[in-house]
Amino acid sequence: MSKLWGGRFTKPTNKLVEEYTSSISFDKKLALHDIQGSFAHVEMLGKCDIISLDEAAQIKQGLEIVQKKIKNDEAEFTVADEDIHMNIEKLLIEEIGPVGGKLHTGRSRNDQVATDMHLYLREKTKDLIHLVEAVQSALVGQADTHVETILPGYTHLQRAQPVSFSHHLLAYFWMFERDKQRLQDSIKRINWSPLGAAALAGTPYPIDREMTAETLGFDYVYPNSLDAVSDRDFILEFLSISSILITHISRLSEELILWSSQEFNFVELDDAFCTGSSIMPQKKNPDVPELLRGKTGRIYGNLMGLLTLLKGLPLAYNKDMQEDKEGMFDTVETLDGALSLLAPMLESMEVKQANMKQAVQEDYSNATDIADYLAVKGLPFRQAHEVIGKIVLYAIEQQKYLLELTMDEYKGFSDLFEEDIYEKLAPDHVVAARNSQGGTGFDQVYKQLQLAKEHIN
Ligand code: ARG
Repeated sequence: MSKLWGGRFTKPTNKLVEEYTSSISFDKKLALHDIQGSFAHVEMLGKCDIISLDEAAQIKQGLEIVQKKIKNDEAEFTVADEDIHMNIEKLLIEEIGPVGGKLHTGRSRNDQVATDMHLYLREKTKDLIHLVEAVQSALVGQADTHVETILPGYTHLQRAQPVSFSHHLLAYFWMFERDKQRLQDSIKRINWSPLGAAALAGTPYPIDREMTAETLGFDYVYPNSLDAVSDRDFILEFLSISSILITHISRLSEELILWSSQEFNFVELDDAFCTGSSIMPQKKNPDVPELLRGKTGRIYGNLMGLLTLLKGLPLAYNKDMQEDKEGMFDTVETLDGALSLLAPMLESMEVKQANMKQAVQEDYSNATDIADYLAVKGLPFRQAHEVIGKIVLYAIEQQKYLLELTMDEYKGFSDLFEEDIYEKLAPDHVVAARNSQGGTGFDQVYKQLQLAKEHIN
């Protein structure tokens, strides 16, 4: 069969051009969404008397057959038919004859492809929201058992103050919570219907755009046909949200990699989530978090790609826009893979509480608490800071930790020191004391955990 748009042409398309302009190799992923859009469109054409009800019924029957073939992997797509829209129309006409050609009345591939992508992205965004929630549940699961597990908290990757391990994990919980909220919010804008904008200017047929929007579960109709067919903001927004999300995944992965190194030795990832070395028999490599961290590059790249693609485009549709798809598919699939692995990897991770605790005992991360101790006794904090700086310097020279200095040594720096300083410097006390709202104090962390639980399921 010749091209659906062949009428105006006297020569066949150059084979290389055919290959080059075709998108079927990737936009076939939109096949079922394309059919969903066509069902809504043909139903409306019938109800609005643009085609007869009988014709509409025949077309719907034909679409069912094509849909079934696609689901059973029996549909044959060809590069000659360029893209998913024309491939499906061709298959439809093969099934039911020339009446199939009435489906495209009052519609263009320009509003059709936009509709397909809105439908695709809505479905995938909902799937991703569930996957983010599974990661949140895994974090809460670990946080539940580790409120009183203490590890060093860092700034500049230098030991700063000890914190509850749950507090550390819940920091990621809230990052993912914002990602989830952003995804949920974006659905409002994905839910605008471009269908019926036609090529760019609308159509002379008495179509009903509200009707198709409702059938497709969209809750708003693009008020401007030019905007409807040239808008890809909803994909840009998805890629932006995805970039932030993968940043969070990457930061968490980085910590898992550090923590499972021999130098930190705070966690052990389950064997099922690690791989070995082909030469060094002792190795257990954290390949999964490394790859999760590495995947960040392609998602940022997909965002940059689409921003760059759109930047200079005049209204309305331009063929450049066919390039909007692969980055979107790739981002959806990359995130799907990343989140699906992250949740069970977190759940199965072994937390080495004793090593965390030991780390906290072998550092100076309770120094702030001695400064606070003097400040509470009336010494201005700035002066207290100076005194403690000297104490830390002295202790390092003596190769002692702060809890190992004698009362006499403390008194040498300030008369304000008394026996209770030792209890104040114990790591559990240091953590428990930070009981300000949102702090790492155990009471606060229990509250936070409760709040986190209320945000999932
Ligand atoms: N395959 C095209 C795309 O994805 C569909 C829209 C084509 N429209 C056109 N006027 N050539 O962008």
